[in-house]
Amino acid sequence: MSCPPGQRCEEGAKRRRALLVLGTMGAIFLALSAASFVDSRGQAIPSQVSYAGYDAVEGKRVFQAYNCMGCHTIVGNGAYFGPDLTKLYGKVGPAWLEAFLPSAGAWPTSGAVAMQLRDGAIADESGTASIDAYLEKYPDAAERVARRGGHASLMPNLPLTRVETQQLVAFLKYASSIHTEGWPPKPKVDGLSFPQARPMPAALASTAGGAIPAGGQAAAASPAEQGAQLARDTGCMACHSAGTERLVGPGWGGLYGTEETLDDGSTIRVDEAYLTESILDPDAKVVKGYVPHVMPAYEGMLDAGQVESIVTYIRSLGGDHP
Ligand code: HEC
Ligand code: HEC
Repeated sequence: MSCPPGQRCEEGAKRRRALLVLGTMGAIFLALSAASFVDSRGQAIPSQVSYAGYDAVEGKRVFQAYNCMGCHTIVGNGAYFGPDLTKLYGKVGPAWLEAFLPSAGAWPTSGAVAMQLRDGAIADESGTASIDAYLEKYPDAAERVARRGGHASLMPNLPLTRVETQQLVAFLKYASSIHTEGWPPKPKVDGLSFPQARPMPAALASTAGGAIPAGGQAAAASPAEQGAQLARDTGCMACHSAGTERLVGPGWGGLYGTEETLDDGSTIRVDEAYLTESILDPDAKVVKGYVPHVMPAYEGMLDAGQVESIVTYIRSLGGDHP
């Protein structure tokens, strides 16, 4: 390798240059490798995103236990039967999700979302306690309420407990905060002007005005009809059928006057007092075969007259009339 005498020798310089380039490459490689171990690099971290005291890791377990991914996609994984859930939390907000998940067989009405906002923690997460401000802040929730509120959905009712619902919301909150570089892309339909996306006239009529109508507003209707309307607007029918079918809660058909068996094995006669208590404080007596903390307590949400007309409606659905 030595240079012949009398000639200019470039071997040494070339070798030094090659080693310098190699060394620089090596340094870049090591630096990037080290950087790939640094936590999250500005991304959301599941264990640090929390909702109602639960973190997204717990929510992911619930998501897997119910195999939500068998029907939904999230962050690029899953099946295409149901809509993509990646960015949903940011679009519809926590109160809409809390109203939808436990009674997914039907779409939440504005009354059902307003009910959730009465919970201080949910109102804090939503950034507002007023239903009008909420629907303005989350236009996608407003659109769902207007187009489909109170109507049956294609998603099955899943037996989610209160805790599981909150954990799922934590997971959806995390998924929504992941920086996905604009994924999933917007569907190429022109929003509400797409023919299939027209608001349903019936849904619009029943949600017009947003809030739950005050008792006795529809003066012409009988008390039972008023109760039926109120039960629809408040979102009871997402969980209860007017027949004997079990949805999330027991059906109301033929209920009045029967003996109801409770989860502690005792029985109770279904009368006005029991129905009233079941609406205002549902966990006071839990029906056998059902779990507590699923039905919201309507104490303070419905006034005495409203509860009375719903009770009259349930009574009109059959059972023994005294
Ligand atoms: C058997 C299939 C199936 C399973 C399992 C399922 N879903 Fe759904 N889900 C659907 C369908 C279908 C829809 C759309 C319903 C419609 O348009 O009427 C839906 C709608 C939703 C929506 C509303 C989406 C929107 O854009 O408004 C949410 C939120 C949701 N599902 C969450 C979940 C979660 C969380 C789980 C697991 C705990 C789950 N789903 C399990 C089928 C399913
Ligand atoms: C998220 C689902 C859900 C919603 C919304 C809901 N309920 Fe319930 N309801 C249940 C469940 C579950 C039970 C059974 C457990 C219990 O007794 O608390 C139940 C029980 C009842 C019972 C006792 C039924 C019986 O067979 O003894 C009555 C009455 C009732 N609900 C009325 C209402 C009314 C009125 C509304 C609306 C203002 C309403 N519920 C909204 C889930 C719901």
